[in-house]
Amino acid sequence: MKLSIKGLVWLMPWLVASSPLQTDEPLAGPDGSIHGNHIFNALHNSMKMFGCVLQHNGMSIFIATVPQGTEFYHGTSSPYRKNGTGWLAFEPEHAMAFAHPRQSHRAGPKDATDEPHDDQDTSKDHRYHHTRSLEHNDRQDDHDNHKESSFGSSSDMDKTQSALGPEQPTTEERSGYFHTYRTKREMRLVYFDGQSAAKSLKGTLDMQDIVLRNATWFDGSPAEGDNVRADELCALARDRWDNRVDGFIRMVGGFEIILCSFADNLDVKCILSTSSGGGGSSLNYARALATRFDGIGGDRVSINYADFVSLLAFPDAVYFDERGLPRAINDWANLGNVRHHIDRLITQLDSPNPINWQNIVDMIVTRYHYRINLMLSSAISTHHELQRELHLAIEPFVDAHARNSDLEIERCATQFWISGADLSTTPAQAVYEVSKQLCSALVTGAAAETYEEGIAIIQDLKRYLDWTDFRKCNNCKPDEICQLPIWPSGSEEDFVRPQCGAGRSHGAGGYWDMMGRVRG
Ligand SMILES: *[C@@H]1O[C@H](CO)[C@@H](O)[C@H](O)[C@H]1NC(C)=O
Ligand SMILES: *[C@@H]1O[C@H](CO)[C@@H](O)[C@H](O)[C@H]1NC(C)=O
Repeated sequence: MKLSIKGLVWLMPWLVASSPLQTDEPLAGPDGSIHGNHIFNALHNSMKMFGCVLQHNGMSIFIATVPQGTEFYHGTSSPYRKNGTGWLAFEPEHAMAFAHPRQSHRAGPKDATDEPHDDQDTSKDHRYHHTRSLEHNDRQDDHDNHKESSFGSSSDMDKTQSALGPEQPTTEERSGYFHTYRTKREMRLVYFDGQSAAKSLKGTLDMQDIVLRNATWFDGSPAEGDNVRADELCALARDRWDNRVDGFIRMVGGFEIILCSFADNLDVKCILSTSSGGGGSSLNYARALATRFDGIGGDRVSINYADFVSLLAFPDAVYFDERGLPRAINDWANLGNVRHHIDRLITQLDSPNPINWQNIVDMIVTRYHYRINLMLSSAISTHHELQRELHLAIEPFVDAHARNSDLEIERCATQFWISGADLSTTPAQAVYEVSKQLCSALVTGAAAETYEEGIAIIQDLKRYLDWTDFRKCNNCKPDEICQLPIWPSGSEEDFVRPQCGAGRSHGAGGYWDMMGRVRG
């Protein structure tokens, strides 16, 4: 394989300083209109659990900031504050699932990746990827056992344990610990969208493993991979991105942060010991997560939606698998252009007051989602009824005495447009493209000669838009939640059509067991 100059720089970052690379080769700029509907959905789903779970292959990287004074949670077997690299949860119940004592004290091989951390607590027993399963208890135990046997590097706890012998655990060792931290300054983070902490081969890790890490060895075994992944991402932050990012936001069973240095960013609020079985039932956990389906809330995270990098804007970098899920093309040299844009995004100065494209996208989704649902429901069954609904949707953009479909589409498509928005940017291109497709379907549908012709246009539109909101559960009962295929739980049925329930997947389960293969 021929290594491009950009690939070479990636290997040897010091080359960047001495070579004005950007002028060597013209770089194809991103184009947000080509897969505009997917980018539009990435904007809508960003930092919302519901959309991130269902459109789980995040293909985008955003810059996120978390304000000073924001509270985060960390569950562990250690009573001491953490200083090095570790995981933080946004919801207490998520961290509670890890606040339990160690059960195994078997010393494993020393994990070399623990070396760079300056703190003693290198056990990484707090990895939130072992989410308390929302599914079956046996599954849950499985994951816990996997976790317990997957760490085992030297730590204070291990040393104490071997001195005392396994028969006499101290109170400290019989307890789990629930740490509450607060950010002592604003944190600047990289956000991987989708279900980006799901350890699957379906494409949830493509951005991290294929685009950024060249980890083609990744075999899907969850336990070892994520420590290495976190360490490599933090090494990139330090060496390649000049410490411009403090960590990474990802999502699985709740949003989480890989924070490269706890010591630099966090003050301890309190460290509490937990009883065994802390955190309550898996339903309690599932309910806590469900409160964040539509957003993380509280302005805990602000995302720059005006400038981000999406693989979907680089048609040479993505393909769609047999299920229609976007995947990164596994070709390191070919992805050099994308990495170049990621480097620029991360190392540049943040612009003040970027346009909030998520707000604009959400206005469009909320305005048209219920109308499209209604048109396709049994409530609308005649040509007359359909025409009436379509007319109501476009009426604000129609001059009744001077019909002109081009002008009507343009007025409709720019309803929520921010004046002065730069049409050369990825979000502007995606939003404009989707708005035009949407409005022209409504205008064309309204002029259709028959019910069949009109309804076919709206069905095509719904398929094109593919909004996750079309799959929302209808009002669940107070003791139920909308059950989603959150890794490692869930069934094919949960993915296609989530249903209300008591937090267990319905159907046969096993959505995540079906392995997607990395091409190339
Ligand atoms: C973290 O650093 C603090 C302050 O230097 C220290 O007191 C504490 O023991 C360290 N924690 C661990 C787990 O090493
Ligand atoms: C990326 O990984 C592949 C497969 O392991 C390897 O052949 C290639 O040399 C790597 N490229 C770089 C730039 O590290």
